[in-house]
Amino acid sequence: MINALAQELNQTLAGSVVDSLFSKMGERLYFPNGIISQGGEAAKDATFANGTIGMAVVNGTPIELDSYKKSMPNFNAREAVAYAKTGGNPELRKIWKEQIISKNPLLKGKTFSLPILVPGLTAALSYVCDLFVDETKPMISAEPCWDNYELIAAARCNAEFHRFKCFENGKFNISGLEEKMKADAQKYGSVRVILNFPQNPSGYSPTKNEVLEICRIVKEIAESGKKVLVLSDDAYFGLDYEDDIEPQSLFAYLCDIHENVLAIKADGPTKEDFAWGFRTGFITFASKSLSEAQYTALTTKFMSAIRSSVSCSATPSQSIIMHALNDQAHEEQKKELRAMLKRRYDLVRKFVNTHKSSVLEPLPFNSGYFMSFHVNTGKAEEIRKRLLAVDCIGVIQIDPYTLRVAFSSIDEDKIDLVYASIYNEAETTK
Ligand SMILES: Cc1ncc(COP(=O)(O)O)c(C=O)c1O
Repeated sequence: MINALAQELNQTLAGSVVDSLFSKMGERLYFPNGIISQGGEAAKDATFANGTIGMAVVNGTPIELDSYKKSMPNFNAREAVAYAKTGGNPELRKIWKEQIISKNPLLKGKTFSLPILVPGLTAALSYVCDLFVDETKPMISAEPCWDNYELIAAARCNAEFHRFKCFENGKFNISGLEEKMKADAQKYGSVRVILNFPQNPSGYSPTKNEVLEICRIVKEIAESGKKVLVLSDDAYFGLDYEDDIEPQSLFAYLCDIHENVLAIKADGPTKEDFAWGFRTGFITFASKSLSEAQYTALTTKFMSAIRSSVSCSATPSQSIIMHALNDQAHEEQKKELRAMLKRRYDLVRKFVNTHKSSVLEPLPFNSGYFMSFHVNTGKAEEIRKRLLAVDCIGVIQIDPYTLRVAFSSIDEDKIDLVYASIYNEAETTK
């Protein structure tokens, strides 16, 4: 049974690309006309006494224990202990949107949703899958990719998880992506893909030409009458180390490419602003012909996914990010950290360019936190174990043929030694 409020939202979205892409859960979700919405009304008009929200309030201010205040002396009680709004701090959402535009000039003057704040990018991806993926609506991703994609799409949402080989002949595999997307479009009438640049685990970002090729594929499918959802996981956005990388998000290219395309951007401070444990991420939607009312309905559907799982994100993290984004020094400090990562990248690049291995072949990499090796013996796990036991070095085995190194977490003075050990252990396990 679909709730009447869900039916209302579905009615607003009827005939749109969103409506055609919804999973069964996407259709069912609704935001109750209950505590949150009545509390919102009271926040505006209950000037005498507001008895709506379950917090302890004195003279209009939530109480805050001194034991908390000590750790957050610069925050008022609302910034520290009060509940956050379901979709996040409105001011922070606005600032993040402005930042998305300044980082992606192609978006200037274009219409897209206000970003919704969620507890980390994982939550963003998970809610997108809740809304758009199920047993009859598969998700496509690269092979290799971040292991959480399959956990979310397949185990959590019971969807088929389709893979295209990320690289072919040392290049991003455009034709593999095209083949998978067109096959799904043909078979299911719509297609969903998650693309992640800079990529985890390879550390690859596409060139401008490759981005244009991806856009061509998406447009061709859309023009054939099929609906296309492209979820850009921009977790590592901006960490580019080579000049030929397209610096803007794929989302900026896809947001108004065709009315049959729903472009979704997942991003956030986690990796970009070096705030891994804050658990703040954002989700932003765009499609060529969505009306204002449809953007609102889609945002409400998304907030229903938040409300029905974690209710809202943590307040102190949002307050810290707000203060940081308003701090002149923030960008400067980020720049220094990015330069440090670039120095590590340069050292790794120099090592792999000057050393040959009969076992290891670096996958294309030019950005982000990681690089990976293709292990032609299929003994990535054996290499990982030896590195740990003999050299006290930790790396990740993604699959038997892929070994990932997070150079982002290895000090510059250790990089040569770490890579020498990796090459050495690869030979030993031959
Ligand atoms: C590609 C990718 N997307 C998303 C995430 C998750 O980010 P968060 O920690 O904000 O949930 C990660 C984290 O490792 C990642 O590698």
